[in-house]
Amino acid sequence: MSQRLPGIANRPGVSQSSGRMSKRFYITTAIDYVNGQPHLGHAYEKVVADAIARARRSLGQEVFYLTGLDEHGQKVQQAALAEGKSPQAYCDELAAVWKRFAARLDLTNDDFVRTTEARHKQVVQAILAKLHAGGHFYKEAYSGFYSTKEETFLTEKDRRPDGTFDPAYGEVIRLEEQNYYFRLSAHQQWLIEYIEANPDFVQPDYRRNEVLGFLKNNVLEDLCISRPSSRLNWGIPLPFDPAYVTYVWFDALSNYISVPAASGDPGVPEPLRQKSAAEQPLEAWPADIHVIGKDILKFHAVYWPIMLRAMGAPLPRQVLVHGWWQKDGQKMSKSTGNVVDPVAVIDEWGVDAFRFYVLRELDIGPDGNWTDAGFRSRYAAELANGLGNLVNRSLSMLKRYRNGCVPPVATELEPEATRVVTQTRQLLLQNQLQASLLCIGSLVTRANQYVDHTAPFKLAKDPAQARRLDEVLYNLAEVCRILAVLLWPFLPGTAEKIYGQLALPGKPDRLDQAVWGKLPPGHSIGSPAPLFPRREA
Ligand code: ME8
Ligand code: MG
Repeated sequence: MSQRLPGIANRPGVSQSSGRMSKRFYITTAIDYVNGQPHLGHAYEKVVADAIARARRSLGQEVFYLTGLDEHGQKVQQAALAEGKSPQAYCDELAAVWKRFAARLDLTNDDFVRTTEARHKQVVQAILAKLHAGGHFYKEAYSGFYSTKEETFLTEKDRRPDGTFDPAYGEVIRLEEQNYYFRLSAHQQWLIEYIEANPDFVQPDYRRNEVLGFLKNNVLEDLCISRPSSRLNWGIPLPFDPAYVTYVWFDALSNYISVPAASGDPGVPEPLRQKSAAEQPLEAWPADIHVIGKDILKFHAVYWPIMLRAMGAPLPRQVLVHGWWQKDGQKMSKSTGNVVDPVAVIDEWGVDAFRFYVLRELDIGPDGNWTDAGFRSRYAAELANGLGNLVNRSLSMLKRYRNGCVPPVATELEPEATRVVTQTRQLLLQNQLQASLLCIGSLVTRANQYVDHTAPFKLAKDPAQARRLDEVLYNLAEVCRILAVLLWPFLPGTAEKIYGQLALPGKPDRLDQAVWGKLPPGHSIGSPAPLFPRREA
C-alpha cells in the first residue's frame, strides 16, 4: 500500500497541477440502528473517528467525516407499528435524538446520512441495477430457517449440539420463498490475495488474520440480497423487481459510497455517480478509514469489498476495528441496568472528561471495561491534578508575578516539548490515539515536575532571581500553549479554553502552531480558571 498520506495522495491518472483534484481524507463510522438508545459503544466509536478526523485536519489535510443512521428493516417496521406510527415518522423522531447525541459528543462530522434519505436510496438503486445488469444476481427458491430478530437465514450449521438455535436469534421460523442472491464464489480468491498484499486493509493485525482465516477455511456462500415486500416493506425496492426490497446490510453498507456518489464525486464510477447539483462535488471516495466494531467485521472486510469490486469502484484503504466495552466486567444490558449512559456522564463531568477517559483507557482494538472508579481516578490523576493543575498554576503565577505579561522567550523545556510534538505527529498519522495521549501526558508530567524543581513561588520572593523567574514562567506558559495544540483533536473544548486563558486569537487547531517560541513576549494573557475542578471521592 502507498506510503503517502492517503488524504493528500493524488488519484492515479489525474494531473497533479490541475489544482481542483484534491481528494479529501474520508473517514466513516458504522451507521447505528435507529431503533436503540445511544450507548457507550456508539459514543466510543464516534469519538475515535472524531479524534482521527480532527487530528488529520490539525495536520493540514482536508477531511470528510461521515456518520449516520441505519433506518430500514424489520425491527424498525415492527417498532413503529407497535407505537402506532409510520416507520418514517418513527425514524424522524429518533434521528433527532441521535443528531443531538452527535452534537453532545462534540463531533465534527461533515455530514449525517440517514438511509431513508432520497440521495441514499437513489444510489443504492443504481448499485442494484448495475450489479443486476452485470449478471451478479440470480433468483432462487429457498426453504429453511430464518431469524426475524437478526434478519438472517440460518442453516443446519447454526444449530447448537442440542438442536436448538442460539437465543440471540430470537424466534426462528421456517420460511419458503424466492429471493435474489449475489454470486460470491468468484470473489473469494482475489479477496484473499488482496488482503494478503495490503496489510493495512484490515487493522489491527489480529482482525486481519481473523478475516484471512475465515476466507481460507470456508467456501463463501452466496449472499441473499432481497426480502419480499409482502413480508417486509420498510426497505429500498429492487429497481428490477418491485416485489422485493433490498437486504438491510446491502442498503446500510452502501451509505459509505452513496453520500459521495450523490454529490458527484469523480472517484465514484458511472453510473452510480449522480450529476452534482453542487458546483464543487465532494471528492472523497475511496474512503480512507471505516471505523467499526468487531461484531461487524465480516460485513466490512468480506461483503463490502466484494460489492465494491462488482460495482467497479475502488476499495477503501482501511477497515479499522475497535473492541467492545463492558461495564464492571459484564456485557452491558438494559434489562439488568448494567449500562453506561454517555449523556449522563457528560452532563456530570463534561464532554472532554468523557472523551479523554475512553480514548486514554482503551486502545483501538482490544475490548475495554468501564468502571466508575476507574473513570474517577483517571479524572483526578490525569485531568484535575495533571493537566488542570499545570495550566492553572502556570497561568496563575504568570498573572501574580508578572501581571499576566509574557516574559522573553526561554528554552529550557523546548527539547522535551519538541520531542513530544514530533512523536505525537507520527503517532497521529498511524491513528495511535491512546499512545498519543500517553506521549502528551509525559509533557504534562515533565512540566509539573519542573514547577516543583524550580519552585517559582520561592524565586518570586528573591528580587535577585527575577530573570530566572522570567525563564521559568515563559517555559510553563509556552508548554501550556503547545499542550493546547496537541490536545485539540482529543479535548477540543479544553484546548480552546487554554487558548482563551492565554488570550490567544483563533483556535489551537493546527499542529504547525506547536513550534516552540510562538508565544509572543509582551503579550498579556487572560484570566486563569480551573479546567477540571477537583471532586470529592
Ligand atoms: O451494527 N462497545 O448498528 P449498531 C463498543 N447498523 N462498540 C459497540 C458496542 C459496545 N458495547 N455495541 C455496539 C449496526 N457497538 C449496523 C451497522 S454499518 C454499515 C451498519 C458498535 O447500532 C458496533 O460494533 O448495532 C457498531 O460498530 C456500532 O456500535 C453500531 O452498532
Ligand atoms: Mg449491534
